[in-house]
Amino acid sequence: MSKKEEFLNSSVTKLAFSFDALDPIRQLYYDILDNNLHPSVDIGIKAHEDYSDEFKSVSMRWYFAKSPEAIKIFRDVLDGCELALSRDIIGKSRNTMRVVQANIIETIGSYPTGRWHSDFHHTKLGTNESGTLLTPLFPFQPYFGGLETTSAHRDEYDAYDELATVHKYQEGQGILFDGTSTIHRTQSYKAYPGDKRILVCWQFGCTRDELQPVLTEVGENNGDPMFFHEHDYA
Ligand SMILES: [Fe+2]
Repeated sequence: MSKKEEFLNSSVTKLAFSFDALDPIRQLYYDILDNNLHPSVDIGIKAHEDYSDEFKSVSMRWYFAKSPEAIKIFRDVLDGCELALSRDIIGKSRNTMRVVQANIIETIGSYPTGRWHSDFHHTKLGTNESGTLLTPLFPFQPYFGGLETTSAHRDEYDAYDELATVHKYQEGQGILFDGTSTIHRTQSYKAYPGDKRILVCWQFGCTRDELQPVLTEVGENNGDPMFFHEHDYA
């Protein structure tokens, strides 16, 4: 089965790529920590919004692209390696399938039972119009949690756990899933103090004119800006 067929059938597929291709994003991460970003590269920081007791043991941070120069770093890495195929897999045209948001997700501590969700939920957004691509940014501990997806339909809450599948993250492999129809969560895991689990996340959206206002609303809900302009590498 081709990657595209697999994605259309199950809403999840995996793409192998060169782990070294992520170097510019690693440098970006170091520059964020060192407060050494070029002024044009604007990165926002968001902390975990869940303040329930079980989440007290875990610190999560999202470093998200907030300027065109910042999203360019994520887009260029994608377009420069095998992960570029994502834009052909999701949707109907790679010209309008663009990285509209991107971030680095840093998790420190043990992760409790996560909340099932989809990333780009909107009544006017259908299957195969958005996508999420996740991959480890640094060498990944085998005991770190993977991505849990469920084949249950959005309305079948009771079946989420029963129909769940765990996808383990691997260095040099991206996990691509439908941003709207794939209900998913982080797999719970126990970590050592100081362990950092760091993923890169590219969010794709179909940027056809009629979908831009819909995506803008999704962005307002998740708190990160959306970028609709063309990629440098068509
Ligand atoms: Fe998610």
